[in-house]
Amino acid sequence: IERTLSIIKPDATRRNLTGKINAKFEDAGLRIIAQKRIQLTEAQAGKFYEVHKERPFYGELCEFMASAPVVVQVLEGENAIAKNREVMGATNPADAAPGTVRAEFAESVGENSVHGSDAPETAAEEIAFYFSGLELVG
Ligand code: GTP
Ligand code: MG
Repeated sequence: IERTLSIIKPDATRRNLTGKINAKFEDAGLRIIAQKRIQLTEAQAGKFYEVHKERPFYGELCEFMASAPVVVQVLEGENAIAKNREVMGATNPADAAPGTVRAEFAESVGENSVHGSDAPETAAEEIAFYFSGLELVG
């Protein structure tokens, strides 16, 4: 059984889509074992997305992530990392498969409704960034 870190991004919380997105996760067999709504500062967003520091969109990304509350969550299930990324769809909603979160809800390649960890090591780091062990109730 695997765990992954998911974030429902500001464009989605602004449009009140948390429940609809969570339904897609649950329908795919992912279990939400931790969840909280938080407001990131730009500095906190910058720390979380540090791997993208050299990318041209880094400033825009940090500003966007701090522009409204986000819902951070831990999803658990068989192959949770890959399964979550399948449910999310491609980064650019124009390329996202029908029925995925990004195909249905994302507004642009930047404002694309969800984040999901991309590997076991990053999942562990990203979960620890937002949650203590006591908050994970599997
Ligand atoms: P995450 O799950 O959020 O990490 O998405 P990803 O793994 O599909 O994409 P990637 O890690 O390559 O990029 C991280 C995030 O940066 C994306 O989800 C977008 O929000 C943002 N991003 C990526 N490419 C662009 C871009 O060309 N322009 C802008 N404005 N944002 C981008
Ligand atoms: Mg990524």
